[in-house]
Amino acid sequence: MKKDILIMGMETSCDETAVSIIKNGTEILSNVVASQIESHKRFGGVVPEIASRHHVEQITLVMEEALKTAEVTYKDLDAIAVTEGPGLVGALLVGVNAAKAVSFAHGIPLVGVHHIAGHIYANQLVDNLEFPLLALVVSGGHTELVYMKEHGHFEVIGETRDDAAGEAYDKVARTLKLPYPGGPHIDRLAAEGEASIKLPRAWLEGSYDFSFSGLKSAVINTVHNAEQRGEVIKPEDLAASFQESVIDVLTTKTLQAVKEYKVKQVVLAGGVAANKGLRTALEEKFSGLKDVKLTIPPLSLCTDNAAMIGAAGTIFYKKGQRALLDLNGNPGLDITIHN
Ligand code: KG4
Ligand code: ZN
Repeated sequence: MKKDILIMGMETSCDETAVSIIKNGTEILSNVVASQIESHKRFGGVVPEIASRHHVEQITLVMEEALKTAEVTYKDLDAIAVTEGPGLVGALLVGVNAAKAVSFAHGIPLVGVHHIAGHIYANQLVDNLEFPLLALVVSGGHTELVYMKEHGHFEVIGETRDDAAGEAYDKVARTLKLPYPGGPHIDRLAAEGEASIKLPRAWLEGSYDFSFSGLKSAVINTVHNAEQRGEVIKPEDLAASFQESVIDVLTTKTLQAVKEYKVKQVVLAGGVAANKGLRTALEEKFSGLKDVKLTIPPLSLCTDNAAMIGAAGTIFYKKGQRALLDLNGNPGLDITIHN
């Protein structure tokens, strides 16, 4: 009988300290996430120094809990997969060094994982992946369309030229004086409002690239102009109008790429994949396409977690990719390192 592959996934690229145990790349035995959001909230965003310190405090506790919940020990593990980049360098280093220490101490192979590859592979925890595949990646730091001709092979066919979608959500939320992270708050308000305010859409015709900074500035200007004129704008309507513009561009470009690249499956990935409006819009747009399967992970697998790193790490482990003890955190890591 074929032996199961057990992998520990580790993720510390931003403000979640997360460790998972994943069986055969598809089954979650444990998925522990220690969020730092409460510590960063009062600063209106992630403070890198605070993030690193929290990771140092939490990492060994989270590792122990992940092993305990999964009822496994280090002896049972085939590999340790850790987010190598991109992200905050001080935060990445905590996970990378913890992973290297355990790899060295217990003689367990080490695999470096690109954070966005992890977000994409969160989908493997809920569905079979069929290739060629297109991933719409929408997170706090990235907005990308990634084409995959096969497992573990990534081609970025479009990306944001300025702000990431999540970044735009967080900045618009700040303008509306909503707490950090603002995405979920805008999402909630949008559901209660009317998209009655005219806002721009950056189509960037002829490319699959995105741009959200013009939209973000338009929202900020709308708020300031109204304030100066003493007019009241309903925050619900502004949220709905902003969200409609983001979703319109994301779904239209995804659909165009699906047709051009003739993919069999579309997967949604990254923190903004938790957005209810985006999930519903994609489901509606794809309901008429018989030959294309749409996969959307549950909310807990959309925002940062280590189950996704374990799932991606299993693929790279099977492809023979290994990291050595000189592995470093790399804030500018390119996803094509896995190809
Ligand atoms: O993937 P993620 O957890 O971290 C990064 O790798 O960046 O994404 C975090 C981003 C934040 O900008 C947050 O506001 C956004 O995801 N987000 C949302 C929602 N939930 C989280 N944006 C829109 N609607 C949501 N429901
Ligand atoms: Zn992320």
